[in-house]
Amino acid sequence: MKPISLLWGLRSYCASHGCLYCYFGTVSEHREQMPTAPGVLSHLSPNDLTTADVLAFAETLHDSPVGRVFLAGGEPLLWKPIIRLIEVLKAGGLEVVVCTSGVALNRPDLREPLIELGVDAVSVSLDSADPVHNDQWRPPRRGGDGWEAVVSGISALIAARGPGPRPKVGVYSVITRRNLADIVALPELAASLGCDYAVPQPIALDPDHRLAADLSLTAEHLPELRQHFDDLYAAELPLVLPERSYASQIASAVARPTDLVPGCFGGDTLFFVQPDGTVWDCPSSLKIAATPPGRHRSIKGAKARELFPAPTGCGSDCALFSVDCVNMWPLTGFPVLAPTGPEVPRA
Ligand SMILES: C[S@@+](CC[C@H](N)C(=O)[O-])C[C@H]1O[C@@H](n2cnc3c(N)ncnc32)[C@H](O)[C@@H]1O
Ligand code: SF4
Repeated sequence: MKPISLLWGLRSYCASHGCLYCYFGTVSEHREQMPTAPGVLSHLSPNDLTTADVLAFAETLHDSPVGRVFLAGGEPLLWKPIIRLIEVLKAGGLEVVVCTSGVALNRPDLREPLIELGVDAVSVSLDSADPVHNDQWRPPRRGGDGWEAVVSGISALIAARGPGPRPKVGVYSVITRRNLADIVALPELAASLGCDYAVPQPIALDPDHRLAADLSLTAEHLPELRQHFDDLYAAELPLVLPERSYASQIASAVARPTDLVPGCFGGDTLFFVQPDGTVWDCPSSLKIAATPPGRHRSIKGAKARELFPAPTGCGSDCALFSVDCVNMWPLTGFPVLAPTGPEVPRA
């Protein structure tokens, strides 16, 4: 297995949902004021790469050390050339994981090609076993595209796959101070639907985000968080969860704003590509803000093997471990596929 994973935010616009905490901000706030700082995402960004630029770069991945690509967004499945892109990636021998809001999986014209092309995994975002909670924080842009449509999309994909090995199907849920019980309840729901994996991920918001006081986890939530993770691993559900150490990593990220990671995989075996083509060592806003201008690079017109040299496997020490990046551990040690880069211990 080639060692590098790319988390590729393909498109800025999300025609699917208007999640209130989304990394891309909200359309209404950015209509008033567009962010201008490097790396800050917006659903309204006018700078997304053209389809030709995306496909041209994708064609170069096959002879690079990149072995796995996570296609995210915005909403990747509602971007028309997505199936063509997956074709190119699979023809190049890459593993492909599609990260989706899940509603599009109800469409046979999108669902069937994912199976036929051998997509390796589909991670569906669903925050709560409680439809009301989910749709409050992940409101769909169209009526009828809420919790029930996501669950039916998951079920439709699992049914269409049948006993075949691919794609693995899993659920990613954003955990806030308001849905700590979903650390257990969501994987239980995922198991009942026949999913292969479940990943509870802590919300990452800037301290001055308008929802931080409502949603962010703090030290006072840690006893409950730890208890729910203990209950989750004790439940021995018939699906794969992140490494047991992930729960402690989340707790330590919540307890301390930043911390040291010796030999982090960011910039060695993991990279983040934005919709405008910019390449970062890691999606963490802290790490992006600390990136010197000389290391601002783009996939536009570039060849993957020039952007991503063979990794050292040692990474580099990073003092910016935080809730912004703790979600990268279950990405590099992706639970249902073979490991790519070396597992990096936390300090
Ligand atoms: C940005 S979305 C893109 C893919 C797709 N639209 C989706 O919702 O799955 C990728 C993942 O990031 C999560 N996410 C978005 N904003 C977040 C935040 N502020 N903190 C933690 N996770 C977040 C989403 O719930 C989703 O699981
Ligand atoms: S569906 Fe995904 S990209 Fe769209 S708003 Fe929600 S988290 Fe953001």
